[in-house]
Amino acid sequence: MGVKIAVFASGTGTNADAIIRFFKADEVADVTLVVSSKHGAGVLDVADGHGVVSVVVDKDVMADEEVLLALLEAYEIDFIVLAGWLRLIPPFLVRAFNGRMLNIHPALLPKFGGKGMWGHHVHEAVKAAGEKVSGITIHQVSEAYDEGAIVAQFETSVEANDSASDIEAKVRALELKHFPVVIKKFILASMG
Ligand code: GRF
Repeated sequence: MGVKIAVFASGTGTNADAIIRFFKADEVADVTLVVSSKHGAGVLDVADGHGVVSVVVDKDVMADEEVLLALLEAYEIDFIVLAGWLRLIPPFLVRAFNGRMLNIHPALLPKFGGKGMWGHHVHEAVKAAGEKVSGITIHQVSEAYDEGAIVAQFETSVEANDSASDIEAKVRALELKHFPVVIKKFILASMG
């Protein structure tokens, strides 16, 4: 058992699925907990399918330093990955996991980031802006949305006739291909 990762996600869980699968075949780390903010989120089924423990935490728990840190301690969590976590991470968690928490954003930050820039809103904004490229940004988590130190970025072309969902599909492919590998490299470089 290597580094224990908690994935925080509240969406369909395609990234969580890719990350869990990757580390099932890699000794550097394991996903041992999935944390979601929404009952019924697809990511909870993903966790169940992989036999990974999942918990749903509401706003109060997320804001309660003692409770949330005790939960992560109980699962001996060393590293946090945000993969479709739409809430701001409380400052106490940013501090407790400084250098041990990564987020993925489906655009090339600093453009198309910040509050409200999530999911299809991002790709619609990229389309509306007539961008020729889009992509993903994997970054460390700070106390403001999408402003932590950038760890990696990967680009894809955007054609004039691409719809927002075409862009989303291209960006999603980058996420699933690169996020698990970047997490592993970051862990090896900083915790290995
Ligand atoms: C992804 O687009 C990711 O970039 C963003 O939230 C979405 C999560 O999608 N942070 P999924 O739940 O992994 O399918």
